Amino acid sequence: MKKFTSVSDVENLQEIIKKALQIKENPNSETEKGKGKTIGLVFLNSSLRTRLSSQIAAQNLGLNVLTLNAAQEAWNLEFADGAVMNGDTVEHIKDAIEVLNQYCDIIAVRCFAGMKSKEDDVNESILSQFEQHAKVPVISLESATRHPLQSLADCITITENWKEDRKPKVVLTWAPHIKPIAQAVGNSFAEWMQEMDVDFVIANPEGYDLDKKFTKDIKVIHSQDEALKDADFIYVKNWSSFDDYAAMPEVKDSWMLTGEKLENTNHAKVMHCLPVRRNVELSDEVMDGENSIIYQQAKNRIFSAQAVFSEILDELNSK
Ligand code: CP
Repeated sequence: MKKFTSVSDVENLQEIIKKALQIKENPNSETEKGKGKTIGLVFLNSSLRTRLSSQIAAQNLGLNVLTLNAAQEAWNLEFADGAVMNGDTVEHIKDAIEVLNQYCDIIAVRCFAGMKSKEDDVNESILSQFEQHAKVPVISLESATRHPLQSLADCITITENWKEDRKPKVVLTWAPHIKPIAQAVGNSFAEWMQEMDVDFVIANPEGYDLDKKFTKDIKVIHSQDEALKDADFIYVKNWSSFDDYAAMPEVKDSWMLTGEKLENTNHAKVMHCLPVRRNVELSDEVMDGENSIIYQQAKNRIFSAQAVFSEILDELNSK
């Protein structure tokens, strides 16, 4: 693997899921693989799971880990090409990436959607600068439009929890939130589910359809009750409007996932990438109930990251 920013960087999804599950069985089986190499984890936004699971994964592979909480600890970055930097910004992103090239063998970056310019976000204005200026493999720790390490962990979790001899029905359902949230997790989950052997539908209110670039021909249902019927897995996630970019069109029905809504399902397992706003996106009863596989999903972030870092190291070590 040369880089990891979307599902298209994965040659064989079933193989990498299998590899991640083997790593889960024996996380310390490749402690020499990253010896003498350094991964830089650059966070332009907050994180709990991605930061810690990436650190654990890298340490399990023997990598040196540099974590830069850039938004809090680094110089104020300028992103605009040709900017006259006589204001608040102190260092251009191009220069920062060139310096990271001197220190790191792999650069992993978290750069959320700014939610101000649809064009900037759709075009991945920050991740694209890393892809352009990095001279080492780039890994996305969530960008404006995708969260691939999360999606791989989601695929691992579904695989672990499905033993029946038929395709599971997987429903990605929109959930309420108090503020506009990017579409990255929803987009990414939709992309990855199209590579899995599942029956997949998306449920969201009118006005919240995701970008067709990611959902393609997936069925989108505007009634949550209808979509949840006979579901085997329910993935709960909020996102703001894509069409009316970053807006929150009014939703009259209640879309919070409750225990009552699970009654219509096939004892569906409930997933969420976290962090979750309890009793807004889903109820305490669901979060703490026996159907929730949400903490298992969070644990699998380690093995998702470790499988990807391991494949990137295979490529580096082959040179
Ligand atoms: N799911 C996820 O990416 O969590 P963090 O934002 O805490 O990293």
